Amino acid sequence: MNIIMLGAPGAGKGTQAEMIAEKYGIPHISTGDIFRMNIRENTELGRKAKVYMDRGDLVPDELTTNLVSDRIRKPDCGKGFILDGFPRTINQAECLEKELKELGLAIDHAIDVDVPDDAIVRRMSGRRFCPRCGAVYHIEYLKPAKEGVCDRCGTELVQRDDDIPETVQKRLDVYHAQTEPLIGFYNERGLIRKLDGTREPEEVFSEITTLLEAK
Ligand code: AP5
Ligand code: MG
Repeated sequence: MNIIMLGAPGAGKGTQAEMIAEKYGIPHISTGDIFRMNIRENTELGRKAKVYMDRGDLVPDELTTNLVSDRIRKPDCGKGFILDGFPRTINQAECLEKELKELGLAIDHAIDVDVPDDAIVRRMSGRRFCPRCGAVYHIEYLKPAKEGVCDRCGTELVQRDDDIPETVQKRLDVYHAQTEPLIGFYNERGLIRKLDGTREPEEVFSEITTLLEAK
């Protein structure tokens, strides 16, 4: 099962992708997480990506498509994969389609997690993440057992550099201009599974599993 998570920044793509990955035993591939890991490790890719991420812009396609192309060829993708935050431009979607075709594969579902912009701003301002293992929390909606500390590894939680209000607005503008058109792209291919992402994470997840298993 090859899945794409679409949706605005902060819509809950990562939260849902984690749950899908666990239930179906397929890898969760988040380009944002891969860039953040590279920033943490101070690699050349991380240093290049950080400039764009901190101002809420997209990282250039050539840095992103190669990375995904290598990742989906890894053996753990044999049973399928979930792409979270990729593709984000029509050009990336076309590159992915071409790559998959070469491998004799295709996307089965493009899940569009729909959340209005005002709710997004609230979600991002309360998001906290673990700089060590990447686990994601929310100060109201998804609290860790002990305030400010990661449940999984005990590390102190932090705010993402791109979750400050001005950058959030820029990311939303970039989403509407460059990524939202992908809904039409995948709709033409009969792959869009749209759902209301404003409900509790468990409710959203339950609808996703129903949609995935219906096909
Ligand atoms: P990326 O890391 O992908 O960020 P994003 O798309 O902006 O999305 P987020 O990770 O912010 O949100 P999410 O939808 O995963 O929501 P989450 O589950 O965390 O990308 C970051 C940057 O990297 C980009 O801006 C760009 O620069 C670059 N980049 C990445 N991929 C790229 C690409 N392909 N091309 C070019 N550049 C690229 O949830 C958000 C919060 O809400 C959390 O606190 C969570 O706990 C909470 N929450 C989740 N679900 C619910 C719910 N149902 N109810 C209440 N709260 C909820
Ligand atoms: Mg995410």
